[in-house]
Amino acid sequence: MGDAYSGPELPLVGLLPITATIDTAGHLLVAGCDVVALSEEHGTPFYLYDEATIRTICREYRSAFAERLPRVRVLYAAKAFLNPALAGLLADEGVGMDIVSGGELWVAQSGGFPAEQMAFHGNNKSEIELTEAVEAGVGRIILDNEHELGLLERIAAERGVRQAVMLRVTPGIDAHTHTKTTTGLVDSKFGLPLVGGAAEAAVVRLRDSESLDLTGYHVHLGSPIFEMQPYEAGIAVMTEFAAAMRDRHGVTWREFSPGGGFALGYTPDKPPPPIAAYAETIATALRAGCAQHGLPLPEVHIEPGRSVVGRAGVAVYTVGARKEIPGVRTYVSVDGGMADNIRPAMYGSAYTAVVANRMRDAAEETVAIAGKFCESGDVLIKEIALPHLQPGDLVALPASGAYNLAMESNYNLAQRPPVLFLRDGAARLVRRRQTYRDLVALEEPL
Ligand SMILES: Cc1ncc(COP(=O)(O)O)c(C=O)c1O
Repeated sequence: MGDAYSGPELPLVGLLPITATIDTAGHLLVAGCDVVALSEEHGTPFYLYDEATIRTICREYRSAFAERLPRVRVLYAAKAFLNPALAGLLADEGVGMDIVSGGELWVAQSGGFPAEQMAFHGNNKSEIELTEAVEAGVGRIILDNEHELGLLERIAAERGVRQAVMLRVTPGIDAHTHTKTTTGLVDSKFGLPLVGGAAEAAVVRLRDSESLDLTGYHVHLGSPIFEMQPYEAGIAVMTEFAAAMRDRHGVTWREFSPGGGFALGYTPDKPPPPIAAYAETIATALRAGCAQHGLPLPEVHIEPGRSVVGRAGVAVYTVGARKEIPGVRTYVSVDGGMADNIRPAMYGSAYTAVVANRMRDAAEETVAIAGKFCESGDVLIKEIALPHLQPGDLVALPASGAYNLAMESNYNLAQRPPVLFLRDGAARLVRRRQTYRDLVALEEPL
């Protein structure tokens, strides 16, 4: 644990974890732990998570929504990142969890997370997964299509269970996000569309179901959403739909979810709206829609993923080779890349970086931070001004906690990096680095 430095301000405030500081040696500290010392102990690349950041953001979500709505549940979207340690931390914080697979259900339970606090999503849940969810007592199953409605009805009936479900509806709304992460448009693989009557037909079928209890509706518009307007538009559409289902079929809602997609700051030039702004928008739009249509105010379920864990996570790499192409670009290569963070290659996502062993050195050159994998597209940052980087320097990328490790691969048979959870000056290794032997662990002997 290093001494906190009280000199110049920490760079990237709002992007690095909330406990980040700089010590007198110019090292980055997170939760009082020296990132340079951690890299010496565990090697690089590694991922660290600041527990205080995750806990603080969970509490911020709960209070911002509870101040504005009478009944709210915050469900962390586990697809952003999940391991048993995080599941345990979240159970301790009293939030729920949005899961999308049998694997997420199993891992969450192995961390002590209660199944009744989970909502199970997905556009093609298998019969096995649905059975596991019903038998585990998953609190809500979010029905995405007619096929799984039929499957689930049978599975629940066979077990004598009345399973609480919500219906995921595609409202036909553009959330102005990346085409690969927009989900509210009519042309989407997710949810039952309003147009054409598929959503309405499912409501009628559920009204008459003995084994499924329809508690309400769910929409998820995309991710990350920096604007408020898509939430307003989504809620206007859904209150109108809820009123129509009541008027035409006598079905009232008790619960409603506007999904997740709340933004995260990746670079200083694009700060996310405050959590309170989303809460205010959702509460105001919902109250207005309910008043307009004479609907009861439902219990609201929100599903933040990236914004809960993104800022807590920092990826730490060591600099190796430099390639200077005069008049073109300088590539500085690090020892990780697209296997642990596919987002720049897949979505063109932007990141920024600090030099964790030289936090007070001024920027001297503009370089690209390249990954080590065999794709030209494996560039983590296309252009960034940093101190002159030497082999051995530690490049740390903030805002790396969400969808990096969740989408990691063994491309080039890279070993997956270790994960450390940091709290009060102590680092807990929650996942070790993969070994070469792990790389053949699933192979049959020759
Ligand atoms: C249904 C649903 N809820 C919540 C989320 C979480 O989104 P984010 O991590 O951007 O908050 C997603 C992301 O894909 C989703 O599909």
